[in-house]
Amino acid sequence: MAASDCFQVVPGHPLSGTTTVPGDKSISHRAVMFGALAKGVTHVRGWLAAGDTEASLASIQALGVAVERHSRSELTIHGGQLHPPQGVLNLVNAGTGIRLLAGIMCGQPFESVLDGSEQLRRRPMKRIIAPLRDMGAEISGVNDRAPLTVKPAALRGIRYEMPVASAQVKSAVLLAGLFAQGQTTVVQPGPARDHTERMLSAMGVSIQSDGREIILTPTADLKAVDLTVPGDISSAAFLLVAGLIVPGSDISLTGVNLNATRTGILDVLTTMGANLQVQETGLEAGEPVGTIRVRHSALKGTEVGGSVVVEMIDEFPILMVAALAAEGRTVVRDAQELRVKETDRIAVMVKELAKMGANIAETPDGFVIDGTQQLHGATVDGHDDHRIAMSLSVAGMAALGETTVLDARCAGDSFPGFAETMSALGANIHVAPVPA
Ligand code: S3P
Repeated sequence: MAASDCFQVVPGHPLSGTTTVPGDKSISHRAVMFGALAKGVTHVRGWLAAGDTEASLASIQALGVAVERHSRSELTIHGGQLHPPQGVLNLVNAGTGIRLLAGIMCGQPFESVLDGSEQLRRRPMKRIIAPLRDMGAEISGVNDRAPLTVKPAALRGIRYEMPVASAQVKSAVLLAGLFAQGQTTVVQPGPARDHTERMLSAMGVSIQSDGREIILTPTADLKAVDLTVPGDISSAAFLLVAGLIVPGSDISLTGVNLNATRTGILDVLTTMGANLQVQETGLEAGEPVGTIRVRHSALKGTEVGGSVVVEMIDEFPILMVAALAAEGRTVVRDAQELRVKETDRIAVMVKELAKMGANIAETPDGFVIDGTQQLHGATVDGHDDHRIAMSLSVAGMAALGETTVLDARCAGDSFPGFAETMSALGANIHVAPVPA
């Protein structure tokens, strides 16, 4: 796709068939970063070759790590030694990329600068800067935002009680903890995704977790492993909601990550009356995977708040689309973190869906939707935020009339081939140049 491409969506085409979804984005970032630290050869299959993860891969290569690229999704990483980078490490739009890599950089004996796009420069970094400084790190930003400059410093383990349940913050602190003197403990207020704990543990790091408190013992000895990255449930969510709201749909998604710290969306959709069948089929990269079958369903409104929020934090834009198709009221609370994602995802979705006729009440930490609401096709804007662009496309599949999603190239930040995957299932969506 070119930078100016858009999605054109013609509604009323049911989805049917079976498909996979691209590799998990969170696990793909970690696979290349932890593989870079591990001594020896890390082999990764099913890796997500997308905008965000390519930025992490390019950064570890800039740190002198040799990577063999067998195909887009299969890599061999020769890790164990990082070298001073020639220039700035550019994480482009990747919040996970910059925050996790910053944790690693704090433990290195050389200086580095981490930066990214204008969008990434707007995102809050104090949440990692503060605990990393408590550990003795020399890290600074520009008004606590990227670019971040990291200088060599001796680190000490700390006990850190995270004010927000964030897997990125947890991971940054734990990764710095690998290079610290003494144990590092992170206490999380909610069950943030635990891919870092699982992968570090598989690489031989002593890391204990009771789900709330995670204790890491420092080590320089990560052992290289073979990993197959499971399918991303956050990408699957767009297909699931499309299947639920487009009449006549019946689709199955195979190889999807079913890690319980990620499946909040399945619980909430089930409460809404979704006809979902979930079957666990095995383990990949220490994560449970399985098949999800979804059929068009009559949905009803629900209330979402508390600990499930972090287990589905990236799924709220697409949940909005499901809630518009649901009978009755949906109320979302405790989701203020949505305001500091790639965009303010509450404000942006409310604004763009309004162009399609939606009436959504925005609250400081969520939203209220009274459904059902029949949307009409419109020209809407993806705001360079992949989850916004894909959610609006799915909304268009159940609207009356055609929808054009501008600035849709960003879908490739997490779901390359989104339109092609949807089309293969029968949706009428295609990539087109922006109309003059
Ligand atoms: C991620 C953690 C979440 C999530 C992001 C990926 C990760 O962010 O929104 O898409 O891979 O650790 P926060 O840690 O900011 O909640």
